[in-house]
Amino acid sequence: MAEKTNVLLKVKGLKVAYGGIQAVKGVDFEVREGELVSLIGSNGAGKTTTMKAITGTLGMNDGDIEYLGKSIRGRGAWDLVKEGLVMVPEGRGVFARMTITENLLMGAYTRNDQAGIAADIEKMFTIFPRLRERKDQLAGTMSGGEQQMLAMGRALMSQPKVLLLDEPSMGLSPIMVDKIFEVVRDVYQLGVTVVLVEQNASRALALADRGYVMESGLITMTGAGQDLLSDPKVRAAYLGE
Ligand SMILES: Nc1ncnc2c1ncn2[C@@H]1O[C@H](COP(=O)(O)OP(=O)(O)OP(=O)(O)O)[C@@H](O)[C@H]1O
Ligand SMILES: [Mg+2]
Repeated sequence: MAEKTNVLLKVKGLKVAYGGIQAVKGVDFEVREGELVSLIGSNGAGKTTTMKAITGTLGMNDGDIEYLGKSIRGRGAWDLVKEGLVMVPEGRGVFARMTITENLLMGAYTRNDQAGIAADIEKMFTIFPRLRERKDQLAGTMSGGEQQMLAMGRALMSQPKVLLLDEPSMGLSPIMVDKIFEVVRDVYQLGVTVVLVEQNASRALALADRGYVMESGLITMTGAGQDLLSDPKVRAAYLGE
């Protein structure tokens, strides 16, 4: 595979506070085109906050984020989705009272190429056959794993360059967890750059080109996915060994 050197996303000295509480205290990291980067860390480390700041759903107190070589400080989520920076939030957030197909169409709200949208819906049904079987079902009546697939499908409909996934395997059965990790790998192999936040650290690092470990609002370790996976400190803290 060609070396991945083109930096798409560069987070520099990012600080985010909720009221007086500093959740992210000066985070630096970068994501290169075509990479899958995993961000791991304990509950409350600041992973979700970091992703929300990157995708414009939370403001930053200090630092900067460059996307495609330009600062995106202060830009809103809608604007960034149009540019291909898309997050699938924790808890998924599908539109419960809409059908699967309607949810997928909502994902394409920034587009107006009708033929392309129709072709992409078909593509989502190929990636996620379960969604095709249930295309007229209300999203709220689907299982957790199915809703996760739908959330990812909806995000893909916006044609992301960088897809940020917040705990996609959370709360799913072992079989669904396998399926979700398969889909994450497929999406990455299709060429989408992926930032993956996961409690399932061993699987997230096994898939990753590179990984970052976050603790109490700071990045404390970084390296190739495989190197972090075999690091004794990572194994002790995050892989239960
Ligand atoms: N809306 C909020 N208001 C106040 N504090 C918040 C808010 N959201 C998060 N925090 C706090 O910020 C810190 C970082 O939270 P964050 O959700 O980013 O962690 P996380 O690494 O995603 O954790 P988890 O693995 O549990 O999802 C935590 O201490 C949390 O309590
Ligand atoms: Mg979180």
